Amino acid sequence: MFLGFDIGTSGVKALLIDSDGKILASSSASIDVVRPLPGWSEQSPSDWWNAVNDTAMTLSRDHANAMANVRGIGLSGQMHGMVALDKNDSVLRPAILWNDTRNAAEAAELDDEHPDYRKIGGNAVMPGFTAPKALWMARHEPELFAKVATILLPKDYIRFLMSGEKISDMSDSAGTLWLDVAARSWSPTLLAPCGLSIEHMPELAEGSAPAGQLRPDIAHKWGIKNSVTIAGGGGDNASAACGLGVTNPGDAFLSLGTSGVVFSVTESFAPAHSDGAHAFCHALPNTWHQMGVILAATDCLNWLSEISNTPVAGLMDTIEKSAFCPSNMLFHPYLSGERTPHNDATARGGFFGISRGDDRVDMTRAVLEGVAFAMADAVDVLAAADKRPSQLLATGGGAKSRYWLSLIAAVTRCDIVIPEDGDFGAALGPLFSWTLV
Ligand code: XUL
Repeated sequence: MFLGFDIGTSGVKALLIDSDGKILASSSASIDVVRPLPGWSEQSPSDWWNAVNDTAMTLSRDHANAMANVRGIGLSGQMHGMVALDKNDSVLRPAILWNDTRNAAEAAELDDEHPDYRKIGGNAVMPGFTAPKALWMARHEPELFAKVATILLPKDYIRFLMSGEKISDMSDSAGTLWLDVAARSWSPTLLAPCGLSIEHMPELAEGSAPAGQLRPDIAHKWGIKNSVTIAGGGGDNASAACGLGVTNPGDAFLSLGTSGVVFSVTESFAPAHSDGAHAFCHALPNTWHQMGVILAATDCLNWLSEISNTPVAGLMDTIEKSAFCPSNMLFHPYLSGERTPHNDATARGGFFGISRGDDRVDMTRAVLEGVAFAMADAVDVLAAADKRPSQLLATGGGAKSRYWLSLIAAVTRCDIVIPEDGDFGAALGPLFSWTLV
């Protein structure tokens, strides 16, 4: 029996699977994002831990026998978030998330003055990545930054609470921009401009390698009778790729979660410097990938739902039942700035061409189209950087909508394949990456 946890932005999802990879049960707990200022996006790491415990306790209550036999845990998580710990391992400030763009000036400075980020780190420095977040903290919260002893990514902070070990995997670590992506090791050259060194970093493991043991007191609380090994795991996108079997060069998937992602496995490390393309390690040894990331996919629907006081399910239900026809207005989905293709933290969203007679349904249709065209931009960027994916597996909460997937297939000109249990990719991924090597 295995347990997979995905530490997402909108919540934690836990999966219980058997040794044949069959999903026995799932449980989820939601988490809020705090936005203290425009462009800021934070979460409290203790909220992640509470949500992990809530999901584990639910599984333990409802599936006691299966939980008793758990032998392995896989961890997946939202990428790039910065958890800063002091020398006593206390959290110094709320985690700064992947869609926080407060550090645009620091990102531009690192990118302009240190070409090694593109060469060794394989990517232009964009505000979502961890490196410019640390430089922002050094500049704006110098007293706190002076106390930083360790920086961990979200899923690795959860691993630390589960096991007492500070370990990260290659796919997530590449998203810090402190990794030598070809060598799969920390780069002192990339750490130095942020005032950091290898001492601030966790150990590294491949996603499919053992990386920590669950503490016996936690196993006991969750009703687990065995000793439990935790796999290295991966960033949520690399994990979803493993869950979907996107592991060979040319394989690709599309994720419609809070963010929107097009992910494609490359032949080797293929640095992608322009147009907001990303080039990172995959969660499997000796494997790399590229991706295009838009910062607001289902998040645009969440926003529309909030301001129109209608649940997302209600908005989608009306659309699914309506005619499949083009919208008469346009929507730009840049509510949180944009990474691919614009790499512009100051980009903002907009509706154009609204008429007096338009309503919530028309606006929902325009939002779905705006996100679809942004995904098409991301596919074009991957096509220019490496290869145009011919087929995309679909995952993430938004992939439940046939209407949305049909739209995206039309504008990207890619075949879209819908796997069973499309929404489970990330939590399932680190469990499969274990069995794939
Ligand atoms: C990837 C990225 C997002 C987050 C969302 O670069 O920033 O997909 O991982 O969880």
